[in-house]
Amino acid sequence: MEKQDLDWETLGFAYQPCSYSYTCRYEDGAWGEGSLTTDHTIRVSECANIFHYCQEVFEGLKAYTTEDGRIVCFRPEENAARMVSSATRLVMPPFPKERFVEAVRETVAANASWVPPFGSGAALYVRPFMIGIGETLGVRPSDAYEFRILVTPVGPYFKGGVTPIRLVVSDYDRAAPHGTGAVKAGLNYAMSLWPYEMAHAQGFDEALYLDAATRTYIEETGGANMILVDAEGRLVVPQSKTDSILPSITRRSIIRVASELLGLEVIERPVAYAELGEFAECGLCGTAAVIVPVMSVSDYEGDIVFNGGSDEIGPVLGRLRETLTGIQGGSIEDPFGWVFEICPADGEEA
Ligand code: PLP
Ligand code: COI
Repeated sequence: MEKQDLDWETLGFAYQPCSYSYTCRYEDGAWGEGSLTTDHTIRVSECANIFHYCQEVFEGLKAYTTEDGRIVCFRPEENAARMVSSATRLVMPPFPKERFVEAVRETVAANASWVPPFGSGAALYVRPFMIGIGETLGVRPSDAYEFRILVTPVGPYFKGGVTPIRLVVSDYDRAAPHGTGAVKAGLNYAMSLWPYEMAHAQGFDEALYLDAATRTYIEETGGANMILVDAEGRLVVPQSKTDSILPSITRRSIIRVASELLGLEVIERPVAYAELGEFAECGLCGTAAVIVPVMSVSDYEGDIVFNGGSDEIGPVLGRLRETLTGIQGGSIEDPFGWVFEICPADGEEA
C-alpha cells in the first residue's frame, strides 16, 4: 500500500481531511447501519440541538505503524466505554461499544495510506464524536444523533514535542464539582478557550486548573491530566474529590506501566497546589500530548520549577514515556493486551 506524499516529520497537530470518514445516524429510536463516506461535511438543521444546547461528546485515540509494519491502535475499547459514559451524562443514546471499536477499525483500515510511517514521530489521530442533530427549540434532549469518526495525521500536540512546557495557574475554573469534568464533552472545552488564550497572551503554553470548590487542589489542563514524581521517585497522580478530572486512558495506562513494568510506587491522591513545589518532576499526559514534561508552573507569587529547570524530560517521566511509546509502537512487547491490530504487516486489512 502506497503512503500519501506528506512530510510526516513536520506535521503539527492540525486537521486535514483524509480519504474516508465514518458516519452513522440515530433516528426513530435506533442506530442505523453506519458506513464510510468521502463527504467530510455534515448537513443538519439550523435548529439542531448541537448548535443551541451543545449535545456533543467526543473521543481521541491514535493509530500507529509499528516497527514491523503493522497498523495498530491503542485500547480502543476504553475510548468506547468512556464515550458511553459521556453520552449517558448528556442524555444521548450510547453508541454500542463493539460497534465503536469496529467503526474505528474500519475507518483506520480504509485510511491506511494516511497512517504515518514508523519512526516519523507522527500518528493518525482518530476523533470519534457524536452530536444531537434533531431540531430542539425548548431545552430538552435531541431525538436524532450523528456518530462520526474523522481521522487526520498529526505530529506533536505542543510545537516543541517533548520540550518542557510552562503552565500558568488559571484564574478561571474548568469543571464544577460533580459537573461534567469527568466526561469528554465539547462544552468543557468551549469554556476553556478563554483561559487558554489568557495563558498564551502571557507567554505560557497551557493553563492549569485548580479544583473549583476550594481552589486548593490541582486538577488538570484543558486537554491533558497531570502526573508528578516526588523526591523519592514515586509516581503521584492527582485525584479529584469532586469527580471533575477526565479519567485519562493514557494516565491509567501509565499507572500500570509504572507499577507493573518499572516497579515504581504509585500514589493516587488529591494533590494540594501548596505542595507542588516539593515534586521533582511534573508532566502532562493524554492521547494528543502523550507525556510532555512541565518545566514550570507559575502564579502571581512566582514560579515553581521542576527537574532543575532542565530543557530535557526528567529521568522518571523519560522512562515512562519510552516504555509507553515503545508498547504503542510495537518495539516493546505488550504484556497488557492494549495494542489492537488493524492491518497486518503487508498493509492489508486484518
Ligand atoms: N484531560 C482532558 C481534559 C482531555 O481532553 C484529555 C484528552 O483526551 C485527557 C485528559 C487525556 O485523556 P486520554 O489519555 O484518554 O486521551
Ligand atoms: C486527546 O488527547 O485526544 C484530546 O482529545 C485532547 C484534545 C484537547 C486534543
